[in-house]
This record gives sequence, structure tokens and C-alpha cells, in this order.
Amino acid sequence: MSGQLPYSEKVMDHFTNPRNVGEISDASGIGTVGNPICGDVMKMFLKIENNIIIDIKFKTYGCGAAVATSSMVTEMVKGKTIEEALKISNKAVAEALGGLPPVKMHCSVLAEEALRSALKDYYTKQGKPIPFEDKGHTHENEKCL
Ligand code: FES
Repeated sequence: MSGQLPYSEKVMDHFTNPRNVGEISDASGIGTVGNPICGDVMKMFLKIENNIIIDIKFKTYGCGAAVATSSMVTEMVKGKTIEEALKISNKAVAEALGGLPPVKMHCSVLAEEALRSALKDYYTKQGKPIPFEDKGHTHENEKCL
């Protein structure tokens, strides 16, 4: 293989200078998801107060698109209510990044899953039912590479 994938400037920006990297020691919810095929792993930490995501951090061991989408998701959900955060789809994240090459769309799914997994953990820790559908690991029309 030669050449680089045609990443947008925003993807390159978030990949080389990711926002909100790290951990939250007293997180309200933590989610870890992985893609068993490529081996990439994403861990997301949420701090929630009064139904608002007041802080979010992530650690991603993965490809450039996975790092960039995690970074963008954290920027998009910070300060939002849980309901607003759940409405942010992987497609919206990819669009906010100026698009992703089709072969990399599945990496944005990982970011959405990590967020949902952290929210599930939050509700579980609160002893509350999870008020959204568990979409599980979806790939839409992309193959898991
Ligand atoms: Fe595995 Fe991008 S998340 S290749």
C-alpha cells in the first residue's frame, strides 16, 4: 500500500491535536469499546451533573480516524444534556470533521458506541434503567476492517 487516505484538514487537525485526551478519576460513567478486527480500542469517561455532561475525556488506541472522531465527539457533547448527546450520530460526527473516507466510516461508529457505553455505565451505577436502545455493535453498510 502506498499513499495516504484522503483525510480532511479537520480530521488531520483532530488527529494530530486531539481535544480532551485523558481520564476522569471520579467519572460518572466509563465506556470501553473495541473493534475486534482492527484491534482498536476506545475508552470514554463522562462526568455528569444534573443530566448534563459537564466533562468528557477519552483514550483511543487506534487509527487516525478513530482518534479524530473521538476528539470531535467530546467537543460536540461537552455541556450538552444526555438526551442531546444521544442524538449525535456517527454520521454527524463525520460531517463535523469534513467527512471521512468510506473505508473509515466504521471508525466513527466506535466513537458513538463508546459514548453510549459510558452512558449505560452511568445509568447502571445510578441503579436506573437505561433509557435508550442498545444498538450494539453496528456497521451500517461498512465492513469492519
Ligand atoms: Fe480500526 Fe479505524 S477504528 S481502523
